[in-house]
Amino acid sequence: MFQPSLRVLLTEQQIQTRIRELGAQIEADYPEGPIYLIGILKGACFFLADLARVLHRQARIDFIGVSSYGKGKTSSGEVKLTKDLDVSVEGAHVLVVEDIVDSGVTLTYLMHVLEQRKPRTLKIATLLDKPERRIKPVTVSYVGFQIPDEFVVGYGLDYAEDYRNLRDICVLDPAP
Ligand code: PRP
Repeated sequence: MFQPSLRVLLTEQQIQTRIRELGAQIEADYPEGPIYLIGILKGACFFLADLARVLHRQARIDFIGVSSYGKGKTSSGEVKLTKDLDVSVEGAHVLVVEDIVDSGVTLTYLMHVLEQRKPRTLKIATLLDKPERRIKPVTVSYVGFQIPDEFVVGYGLDYAEDYRNLRDICVLDPAP
């Protein structure tokens, strides 16, 4: 029977400290005015909520949903939109907020979709980055932490929909 154990990789405090740093960097980089934070469902919801609250400006939020086929098994790059934005982002400063960039397939697809909405600027912020796993190159402007190729859960990240509400980010190790 699969009885996983959790090993803390990033504590709640490390995560929150890093988000404040990213917020300061974003504040410095963008001209005055609102930013549209676009969260990718579902994993990015906690990061988006915390990032929005460290910004000292109008941070408008919306969500977009995608599902990928053959994830982890193939590199087909087939992705489909499961939930579109509720708003137009034409002319807006759009910052896509992701929990983790792995193969890069999801973001490659999404950036293509969002570019067609004619935002004024379009950048990506991710809390976690696993560069070793990259199949498709993506330009990520804000990275919280680069992590090794281990299976991580917590702070929005799941294993079969569990563990998303952990406050720390943990490595899920199968029990010996
Ligand atoms: C995860 C994560 C990213 C994507 C990254 O989402 O939230 O959106 O995978 O993988 P990629 O770089 O290989 O495309 P997932 O499909 O697990 O959905 P979830 O956010 O609802 O858990």
